[in-house]
Amino acid sequence: MRIAVFGTGEVGSAVAGKLKAIGHDVVFGSRHPRDPQDGIAVLSHEDAARHGEWIVNALHGEDALAVFPELPMAGKLLVDIGNFQSAIDGPVTQTLGETLQRALPQTRVVKALNFVSAQLMGEPQRLEGTHTVFVAGNDANAREEVIRLLESFGWKDVLDLGDLTACRAMEQLAPMWIRLNQKLGHVYFNLAVVRAPEGGDHGN
Ligand SMILES: NC(=O)c1ccc[n+]([C@@H]2O[C@H](COP(=O)([O-])OP(=O)(O)OC[C@H]3O[C@@H](n4cnc5c(N)ncnc54)[C@H](OP(=O)(O)O)[C@@H]3O)[C@@H](O)[C@H]2O)c1
Repeated sequence: MRIAVFGTGEVGSAVAGKLKAIGHDVVFGSRHPRDPQDGIAVLSHEDAARHGEWIVNALHGEDALAVFPELPMAGKLLVDIGNFQSAIDGPVTQTLGETLQRALPQTRVVKALNFVSAQLMGEPQRLEGTHTVFVAGNDANAREEVIRLLESFGWKDVLDLGDLTACRAMEQLAPMWIRLNQKLGHVYFNLAVVRAPEGGDHGN
């Protein structure tokens, strides 16, 4: 699949590298088009948007809202990994996932991976045991497609949280990631949602 990853930083590099490794036709979208990075073409935002059937947002939320509404995004699926920088030390008063979807009504926005450390996004097996990644989006088919992509990354527990109102919970996790990172002193951690099997006694 043709995929454009916006952002050449920690998350962008990790996700684009994984996508390339599993055979996708991936490019970066950057403010600074230049020679390839890790063998991946670094295009302008405009050229990258034209290339991608799927777009990955690996920008900070404030930057994503400035960038994507200016681009040809109609008909594409946007995987939004971002958080607002303001969410790190303040309450989430609007969510990035919902705001992007409102700004891009002809794009299918799917929120995913925004709590997962960049180093684990494409390599979940670096942590022992089963741990969880959340997905949300208004279009059920788009959620399914992203779930399949995450499974191809090696994720075993992908939890579909439904429509984009789930971003109100998912994006509140940004300060928790920062706090855990400070406490543990590294990035090799994630959440695992331990739960009863479906149809079990849920105690209600
Ligand atoms: N790091 C993590 O482990 C992690 C985990 C989960 C979610 N996230 C989220 O993922 C997003 C990216 O995080 P990151 O750690 O990869 O950040 P980062 O390393 O700072 O990379 C962000 C990229 O955004 C682009 N950028 C910077 N300023 C910009 C501007 N003013 N306008 C447009 N583009 C700009 C830059 O790419 P160019 O110079 O090529 O344009 C930069 O490399 C954030 O929303 C973060 O909350 C991060």
